[in-house]
Amino acid sequence: MQTIKESVTVAWAAAWDRGEVDALDAVLHPDYRRESANRGTITDLATLKRDILEVREAFPDLVTTLDKVIVDGDDLAIFWSTTGTFSRPLGGVPATGRRVRTTGSNHATVRDGVIVRERVTWDQSELLIDLGVPSLRSAFEADADEVVVDDLSGALGLDALKGFNRQFITGVTVVTTTDADGTPRGLAANSYASVSLEPPLVLVCVQKTSSTYPALFASSHLGINILSNAQRGTVATFASKEPDKFAHLDWHAAPNGSPLIEGSSASIEAEIKERLQAKTHTVFIAKVTHAELGDAVPMIYKAGRFFDGEHLQELEAAPV
Ligand SMILES: Cc1cc2nc3c(=O)[nH]c(=O)nc-3n(C[C@H](O)[C@H](O)[C@H](O)COP(=O)(O)O)c2cc1C
Repeated sequence: MQTIKESVTVAWAAAWDRGEVDALDAVLHPDYRRESANRGTITDLATLKRDILEVREAFPDLVTTLDKVIVDGDDLAIFWSTTGTFSRPLGGVPATGRRVRTTGSNHATVRDGVIVRERVTWDQSELLIDLGVPSLRSAFEADADEVVVDDLSGALGLDALKGFNRQFITGVTVVTTTDADGTPRGLAANSYASVSLEPPLVLVCVQKTSSTYPALFASSHLGINILSNAQRGTVATFASKEPDKFAHLDWHAAPNGSPLIEGSSASIEAEIKERLQAKTHTVFIAKVTHAELGDAVPMIYKAGRFFDGEHLQELEAAPV
């Protein structure tokens, strides 16, 4: 007769490495519960099977290794590692084509020869972290009761936030990349912000529905071009869904291939360091590796309109 250690090893390899998830029925109780140590969520056997199949679809070459299985009475500790190539989207995250190694440990409780409960250090959210895609947890929380804005109802009105944003003046950038076959891609963005000078970090927020997003997500680098007064037409092009936005444009490739647009006030290329998940958007944090500064005066954007950046009047210093 197989020991629990042997049957877990066999079922694990069948389920995770070959997608034969029903093999788990031999080692997991029908009322099996799986608790994620980080999130505190509890899932059942059917959900586990679905999760495994989803992960395998995203990582078709997934291979897992049970590094150590320790049995102590009714307690079972499983230490595992797994490698695979991120080939198809998972949980709304576009595939990067990169190889990923992830590790975890499970603490299982055995009853009548099968596992009834497992506490695991890993779930799909940890996998995304291993892929370099951490989530902003606070962005997923339900509305907090104590948020009070103008109407004292306790809920933030969308108009209040829109109104707030309309009072904020920015420049306009075009964020660029190339897709897998080298085609230049880009979108207009005013969410650019400088994060720090040392290290030289910048950020930009990109909506996941943007057609540029999958290519941007898979890229190691991105370009950011600050548009000048003379590039009003370029904004329109890059705020559109035109298939080839670079068709009538002069541009050149930065050292790591990011398209830099001629005539911009300034352009940088930056190496993407973080791809933070903020529900509908991804916050890209990137380290600047290359900069080109021009003389052209930058364009100004406020409340849906574009202004001449040349004729700004400096305010008098306030008396101290
Ligand atoms: C001034 C301006 C600023 C914008 N800022 C952003 C931004 O920061 N992030 C974003 O995802 N979209 C932003 N957009 C919208 C995109 O440019 C627009 O959705 C575009 O069609 C996306 O193109 P794509 O789907 O081909 O990538 C902005 C548009 C304008 C006009």
